[in-house]
Amino acid sequence: MQERIIQFLKESDGYISGEEMSQRLNMSRAAIWKHMQELRAQGYEIAAVPHLGYQLVTSPDKLMSYDIQRGLNTHIIGKKIIILETVNSTMDEAFRLGNENFQEGTVVCAESQSKGRGRLGRAWTSPKGKGLYFSFILRPSLPLNQLAQLTLMSAVALAEAIENISNLKPLIKWPNDILLDNLKLAGILTELRAESDQVRFVIVGIGLNVNTSAHQLIAGANSLKGATGKIFDRSQVFQAILQSLDKWYAKLLNHEFNLVIEEWKRRSGTLKKRVRFTDPSGVIEGEAIDLDEDGALLIRKDNGIIVKKSAGDIFILRTPVSLRPEDQ
Ligand code: BTN
Repeated sequence: MQERIIQFLKESDGYISGEEMSQRLNMSRAAIWKHMQELRAQGYEIAAVPHLGYQLVTSPDKLMSYDIQRGLNTHIIGKKIIILETVNSTMDEAFRLGNENFQEGTVVCAESQSKGRGRLGRAWTSPKGKGLYFSFILRPSLPLNQLAQLTLMSAVALAEAIENISNLKPLIKWPNDILLDNLKLAGILTELRAESDQVRFVIVGIGLNVNTSAHQLIAGANSLKGATGKIFDRSQVFQAILQSLDKWYAKLLNHEFNLVIEEWKRRSGTLKKRVRFTDPSGVIEGEAIDLDEDGALLIRKDNGIIVKKSAGDIFILRTPVSLRPEDQ
């Protein structure tokens, strides 16, 4: 009910009388007054003037599904948005909803996570109200070996949205880290439920450091605030990301993954760099030369042999390719 009252206040131009609210929301004026007190306690500044009514002056920095959905023009991603306070991980929440057959595109977001997780068993620090931590359900009819497409598509969408909202030009580190000046702004985690080679659903999780302060960031990370000195409206950032995800997912469904690859390459901070690649089979070093049509990374080792890697971790070595002794 409080969400409806906030919605009401946000939509009304100027003051709205207690009488009108009481009629439109079908509740007593005393009940409305009580809700107003509760909203003030949550950080909403609400002016109350006799004979005029109520007006919302400022809102706390809190994500509300109504705010995010307002003006959101997506076809699949974000048609349903669930905002939670603190959870272990939005991956687990979305997984549960996936099992309960929630519709494709359902987004679960939390103000903080106590066990946020990243790739390769790493933790994702999720300080309350500072970043965006969300997961969404996809139900594509893709074979298991093409699921990397979803990860690359998400990275492209995320980098594009960050650029649109902040003018920053982050780069993608293969497969899906979003870096600015070599510091990590955002990460993407893809998990799935499959049965006998058949994908039932995929959960894509995104963590973006938005207004996170330096002391809340781990070494090697940055936030939009850290990079620009500005505080961002998290709802607007969220909308920009959902909008971009929806656009790029539509291309993927439309068999235009080549466009995703093209855009990924344009935004890549990995290609043409010397990298150290690690996976369970060992460590190799070489130049990241290309991305193949499935999204695998092609690395040319120093002996000239080109290897194709679909999963693993890379470290970008600083030495630019043009300065390597063998290139001089
Ligand atoms: C990575 O860079 O390794 C991926 C990080 C993914 C973090 C996000 S935050 C929302 C979602 N819930 C999680 O527990 N992880 C993902």
